[in-house]
Amino acid sequence: MESTGNESDATAGRRIVLVTGASRGIGAETARVLAARGDHVVVNYREKRKRAETLAADLRAAGGSASVAGADIADPDSARALVDGVVAKFGRLDVLVLNASGGLERDAAPEYAMLLNRDAQARLATLALEHLPAGGHLVFVTSHQAHFSPGRPVPAGYEPIAASKRAGEDALRAMIPEFDRRGTGFTVVSGDMIDGTIIVRLLERRDPDAVTARRDHGALPTVEEFATAVADATVATTPPGHTHYVGGADFHPATV
Ligand SMILES: NC(=O)c1ccc[n+]([C@@H]2O[C@H](COP(=O)([O-])OP(=O)(O)OC[C@H]3O[C@@H](n4cnc5c(N)ncnc54)[C@H](OP(=O)(O)O)[C@@H]3O)[C@@H](O)[C@H]2O)c1
Repeated sequence: MESTGNESDATAGRRIVLVTGASRGIGAETARVLAARGDHVVVNYREKRKRAETLAADLRAAGGSASVAGADIADPDSARALVDGVVAKFGRLDVLVLNASGGLERDAAPEYAMLLNRDAQARLATLALEHLPAGGHLVFVTSHQAHFSPGRPVPAGYEPIAASKRAGEDALRAMIPEFDRRGTGFTVVSGDMIDGTIIVRLLERRDPDAVTARRDHGALPTVEEFATAVADATVATTPPGHTHYVGGADFHPATV
């Protein structure tokens, strides 16, 4: 973890919130919302160090508190070093936002989606649980296409990602008795395709009709709307395992 100066001064009275995959997209915007609300945000990145550092500097310039932590969460040693590094530096970890996701990368091995979207999420949650205080919170970020997998059609090529993210959600849900025992909050935030994201641009190239079909149901949520819902989930008082839906009302159980 990189130092940003006097950590104890900068984080006094603030929650320490680790957001995985916050160097861009929804994670970056979630970091922005949380920092504006007074949390100290640890911006985790895998490759895009410069982008993460620029974001953290922007958050500090805006009066917030933020630092960066590089880690490939799919690598067990790296994941442990990430959590241990946060706790060593700040003395605590109050909230973990499991946002990082992948598998659509051109060079990704077939098993990578499960390693990242299932195994790494459960591992990181287990590592964080050692430190989260009672009243701490875990948030899992997912998509409707994954949350409702395999019951609903998904864009061509997205099936393995949807299945792996659903498996990740199931692995976390299997931990609910432990969350309950420890008084740890656990909220799932599921979103429709989010307008303007790289993933939607990728899907649009692979399966334009699938994206058009979603737009036909109404305007897609924006990154700001989704990130705000993720930030809100870090203070949710709903029972562990509650799912908060953003956009795509035709997906929701109440309306299907
Ligand atoms: N985009 C959508 O339409 C949409 C809709 C609903 C839900 N969601 C969910 O929202 C979340 C974020 O989506 P997004 O569109 O913002 O994703 P994105 O633009 O692809 O960004 C992914 C982020 O995850 C990081 N990352 C990837 N692999 C990692 C690893 N092994 N270890 C650590 N960090 C890693 C990346 O870091 P580097 O760039 O540094 O490698 C990047 O910061 C995902 O859980 C996704 O399923 C997205």
